Amino acid sequence: EIKSLQARRVWDSRGNPTVEVTVELEGGARGRAIAPAGASRGTREAVDLRDGGSRLRGLDVQEALTNVNGKIAAALNGLNAEDQAGVDAALIALDGTPLKSALGGNAMVATSLAVLHAAADAAGAPLWKHVAQTYQGTASIPLPEIQIFGGGAHAGRRVDVQDFMVMVPGAGSFDEALEVTAEIYAAAGAIMSQKGRSVGVADEGGWWPVFDSNEEALETLVAAIEAAGEKPGERVVISLDIAASEFAEDGRYRLALEDRTLSSDEMIAMLGSWINSYPIASIEDPLAEDDRAGMCAFTKAYGDRVQIIGDDYLVTNAKLVAAAAEDRACNAVLIKVNQAGTVSESVETLAAAWTAGYRGIVSARSGETEDVSISHLSVGLNAGQLKVGSFTRSERMAKWNECLRIQDELGENAFVGGAPLVDTWWG
Ligand code: PGA
Ligand code: ZN
Repeated sequence: EIKSLQARRVWDSRGNPTVEVTVELEGGARGRAIAPAGASRGTREAVDLRDGGSRLRGLDVQEALTNVNGKIAAALNGLNAEDQAGVDAALIALDGTPLKSALGGNAMVATSLAVLHAAADAAGAPLWKHVAQTYQGTASIPLPEIQIFGGGAHAGRRVDVQDFMVMVPGAGSFDEALEVTAEIYAAAGAIMSQKGRSVGVADEGGWWPVFDSNEEALETLVAAIEAAGEKPGERVVISLDIAASEFAEDGRYRLALEDRTLSSDEMIAMLGSWINSYPIASIEDPLAEDDRAGMCAFTKAYGDRVQIIGDDYLVTNAKLVAAAAEDRACNAVLIKVNQAGTVSESVETLAAAWTAGYRGIVSARSGETEDVSISHLSVGLNAGQLKVGSFTRSERMAKWNECLRIQDELGENAFVGGAPLVDTWWG
């Protein structure tokens, strides 16, 4: 039984205020979680409650804290923490808005995750095991998707594309995937340095993208993979998050770096040429969140060759996943708990993805903290893939390192993340 909730203001990786919630159960078990924050947000995702005004650039969360300590604490008092669905249903009913704007997505997600942690504590189980037992029984270590160059809204729009990432589906363990990525990350840094282009890192820890075109970032990524002693397209593949909604204007796409504007068809043709020229295995949000025809056309053309992830397009919403499956748009969905607002809705979205034959990728936000809940969720939900940004900055490394600890508990054979992907891409 939930006895008390306590909210406090803490700070995220961009130095912005965010919500931390501690839940205490009758009997003394406790759970704690922190809300992350996005920068390239979908228009249909749960919204954070921010105070507005000029202080802290309007980003303070006092109202959200008040909601947790007041209304939410009162509504959840006495509820069974093991019944995550019941707790989340109570939160959703109390909020009563489509985008969680009354209580605040930040207040709700921190509360929902803190309850999950408290239930795990009461059960005496690590979070990943509690999640596996609660939802479907199987746990596995995911394939990491790791950023080498940042971009888009995470790098002052220095390049248009948001994430240039690698995956190592050919790795035999999570640990090996990290080691290969560490070599690639360092090689990319050395290349930037040699060119006099090493000026720091973007919001998620990837190298700051000092490039003359978006494609130059891709070429440099391939060079870094080779410099790390890997053959691109063998053990290592490339993954992109285009985050196209961020540079869509009236149905067209404005590539500011290259000073040109593309139609939806021209975007598809450009991405298609990249797929033909580089070992790209996954593309997220290739077109804008409102470009349904474009997403369908892109999936029709390339869905059998690459993983096509809906992030802004699907906002961790089970109904949107089902609708996309009807449309044949995308073949995978990003799972961000704070986009949905609660743990239960995130789990429902992953279930909807599997029903549709889509893959699910558990993901962090660009504004993160030391909270490692998503590492456990990716394992306990058997999601198969995990995206948390780059290979520096401890709000990112904390999540990779937590997976290493879980791998020690589960054993190296639990790394099944790579296997299905290898079949698809090289089968
Ligand atoms: P965000 O970006 O957290 O800034 O929204 C992450 C992503 O687009 O995947
Ligand atoms: Zn994205």
